Amino acid sequence: MKLPASQSLAIRPMQPTDLDQIVAIDIKVLGQPRPEYWEMKLELVAKRSQMAALVAELEGQVKGFIIGGASRWEYGMPENIGWIDTIGVDPDFQRKGVARQLFEHMTAELKGMGVESLHTFVKRRDWRLLKFFHNMGLKEGDMVNLELDL
Ligand SMILES: CC(C)(COP(=O)(O)OP(=O)(O)OC[C@H]1O[C@@H](n2cnc3c(N)ncnc32)[C@H](O)[C@@H]1OP(=O)(O)O)[C@@H](O)C(=O)NCCC(=O)NCCS
Repeated sequence: MKLPASQSLAIRPMQPTDLDQIVAIDIKVLGQPRPEYWEMKLELVAKRSQMAALVAELEGQVKGFIIGGASRWEYGMPENIGWIDTIGVDPDFQRKGVARQLFEHMTAELKGMGVESLHTFVKRRDWRLLKFFHNMGLKEGDMVNLELDL
């Protein structure tokens, strides 16, 4: 169900002061905290270097976030590529188009930085994220994910 017209969602740049609300959503979504990750990300966000880091706010409360970044020559790919780093929407506000709006704003920002293609990693069994990205137009790419336990 979409948000009622009376509740308008604001998409705005992520601020260091959003940390607590973002971490609270992250715990609800992932089931565990990742404080080092967010500390590192918010430091980068503060520098605003080639990143699109946004939050979705409803009546003054953060309900979702997205971080994307622009880079060149990652993994030998010559074109200007963008990475979708993380995304999360408060489970109480999912299926209302919040992630779609975050995604569209992030994409527009990355395009403005010269990004020509978007890439991300999703766990094979994470059908919810897969369905979301599929709906946003992402398709299986040409890269193979390799791993080694050390
Ligand atoms: C994936 C996620 C971001 C979607 O957020 P959302 O705000 O609910 O998504 P939207 O409402 O904008 O959905 C857009 C489209 O994506 C698809 N979609 C999203 N959630 C879906 C679900 N649970 N089941 C099926 N399709 C889904 C639908 O096609 C939807 O369009 P529709 O509602 O018109 O059918 C959210 O479920 C989430 O935060 N999941 C956890 C993400 C995570 O693990 N992050 C950490 C690692 S990156």
